[in-house]
Amino acid sequence: MSTDSRLQSLMARERSTFADRHPGSRAAYTRSDHLFGRVPMTWMNKTAGDFPIYLEKAQGNRIVDVDGNTFVDFALGDTGAMAGHSPAPVVAAVTERVQRGLATMMPTEDAAIAGAELARRFGLPAWSFALTATDANRWAIRLLRAVTGRPKILVNSYCYHGSVDESLIVVGPDGRGTSREGNVGAPVDVTLTSRVAEFNDLAGLERELAHGDVAAVLMEPALTNIGIVLPEDGYLAGVRELTRRHGTYLINDETHTFSAGPGGATAFWGLEPDVLTIGKAIGGGVPVGAYGLSAELADALSGRGDLDLVDMGGVGGTLAGNPVSMAATRATLQEVLTDAAFATMIETASAFADGLIKIIEGYGLPWSVSRLGARVEYRFASPAPRNGTESAANANGELEDFLHLYLANRGVLLTPFHNMALMCPETSLADVARHHEIFDAALKELQPE
Ligand SMILES: Cc1ncc(COP(=O)(O)O)c(C=O)c1O
Repeated sequence: MSTDSRLQSLMARERSTFADRHPGSRAAYTRSDHLFGRVPMTWMNKTAGDFPIYLEKAQGNRIVDVDGNTFVDFALGDTGAMAGHSPAPVVAAVTERVQRGLATMMPTEDAAIAGAELARRFGLPAWSFALTATDANRWAIRLLRAVTGRPKILVNSYCYHGSVDESLIVVGPDGRGTSREGNVGAPVDVTLTSRVAEFNDLAGLERELAHGDVAAVLMEPALTNIGIVLPEDGYLAGVRELTRRHGTYLINDETHTFSAGPGGATAFWGLEPDVLTIGKAIGGGVPVGAYGLSAELADALSGRGDLDLVDMGGVGGTLAGNPVSMAATRATLQEVLTDAAFATMIETASAFADGLIKIIEGYGLPWSVSRLGARVEYRFASPAPRNGTESAANANGELEDFLHLYLANRGVLLTPFHNMALMCPETSLADVARHHEIFDAALKELQPE
């Protein structure tokens, strides 16, 4: 039997097992006639089975579905639950706050405490809050366009910064920027608003910045949404030097790279962004986004009487900075995602990566494993891809779906969009061993007879 037909027959078996194990989820999906795509948000249809698994409850790194199946969760809400599901300090802070007003249009002191903690960790002094990382990025971009008077944003090919219009650009086959495939309803041709360079390509970055029209480079210090693509030696220092030389601001999006440590990749690698954006994990699962500004930028913006930062100037959301998000962020940063928690999570992730490498090597597969602190991911390519385009070229949706489904049918969840495993404070070495045992069994079944 060829490898392809073997994969297809194994997949058919796993699909059928999935259907048998999830009658309640299937029924719930069938009943959702009045949801667009049958799900509350269309991306929830990204599932290796024929329908999504419906949640009953989640605690720590365990999820129980509506059929009573229990899972070890390495997806952790694609980083939204890096603090673990429903961490006790966050539940306590939110429960207490929720009873005293939800949408009041007034600040609470939790915001100042959270802002001070973000400043301590990431080294930027002036913070503002959003409800998502997408919005944090959007607002940061607007502020930097305003300050520089320049029209464009530069991103890395195959980046992801949320549904930010300016970021949906890739390097095309001819080396020029072009709209990312599938881009929905772009307001204008993305090349009018954006420039693009490959990650780890300083010459390409310099070429684009030389046009003098780039307000800001928006980047992750390591790409995390097309596998993990780590920076090569000198790359991040080179980005900083080039952005300074060309009068371009630098935004580090730490929404995922926060996994590198308590101060994210910025503290871990000693980076000096002008702006830092983040979301997801800092709220312990409660919606929040945030952006931090350098003192110079905060001063420049405060001095600009022509910018409407208070009403309809395009920066803000009614529920941004709400009391519940702020209580959750304060509790997550102060009591859950602490230095000690990161030390444990990173140790567990190291064990995860080491074990994964051994298994992959044992089968002689040309795959690679990358780790960024508490986050581990494998790609079907070796050596590890150096940039987003290379990494995208090595995607294998069928194989990925098979591995996800095989694991899910045996009680382990990976992030639907990635071969990514994230550790939270509760993730144990026994959980890692369980993943590895099932992963090994999956690879064994894929071997030609
Ligand atoms: C690096 C990065 N930035 C921003 C976002 C957007 O986050 P949200 O969907 O919470 O707005 C994501 C989401 O995956 C992300 O990975």
